[in-house]
Amino acid sequence: MNGISGFRLSLVALLFCAASQATADPRTDYLLYCRGCHLINGDGVPPDVPSLHDEPGRLLSIPGGREYIVRVPGVSQTAMTDEELAAVLNWVLAEFNADTVPGDFQPYTAKEVGAARAKLLIDPLKYRASLMEKNRKPEPDPGS
Ligand code: HEC
Repeated sequence: MNGISGFRLSLVALLFCAASQATADPRTDYLLYCRGCHLINGDGVPPDVPSLHDEPGRLLSIPGGREYIVRVPGVSQTAMTDEELAAVLNWVLAEFNADTVPGDFQPYTAKEVGAARAKLLIDPLKYRASLMEKNRKPEPDPGS
């Protein structure tokens, strides 16, 4: 092997390392940025920190629920890029919510996450309760 091709090889290796570092896998990001509160297995510490099992998947079926998941402060304020955050949310849904995610679920995109996380949610618990309340109301009966 001559000096030039050896140099090329190490350059390729270097670029490869830089690329793989820029996009850590979502599980690692979950462990770094979410586990501190929601624990390694997503169980959380109810009632202070909610479990990430099943409920997020159900929220996807409620109007506003999909956006709410991104706007929760622990999510929106995390030190991840939009792309990394979208990957972590999709991972959380696949890992902990396989039974409740709707069949027609489209994965979060970086663009969607970027737009939603910009809308500051001051009182997440109150907002969540209002979403649930709206969803509980029966459709008005057009005949009455
Ligand atoms: C500092 C602690 C903390 C961190 C870190 C954190 N969360 Fe949370 N999370 C909470 C709390 C507390 C709530 C309840 C809403 C609130 O009070 O903000 C919550 C709510 C949520 C919800 C809504 C659950 C529901 O049923 O309403 C989701 C989804 C969620 N977090 C995901 C994540 C993800 C993903 C990460 C990592 C990017 C993360 N959280 C990081 C504390 C945290």
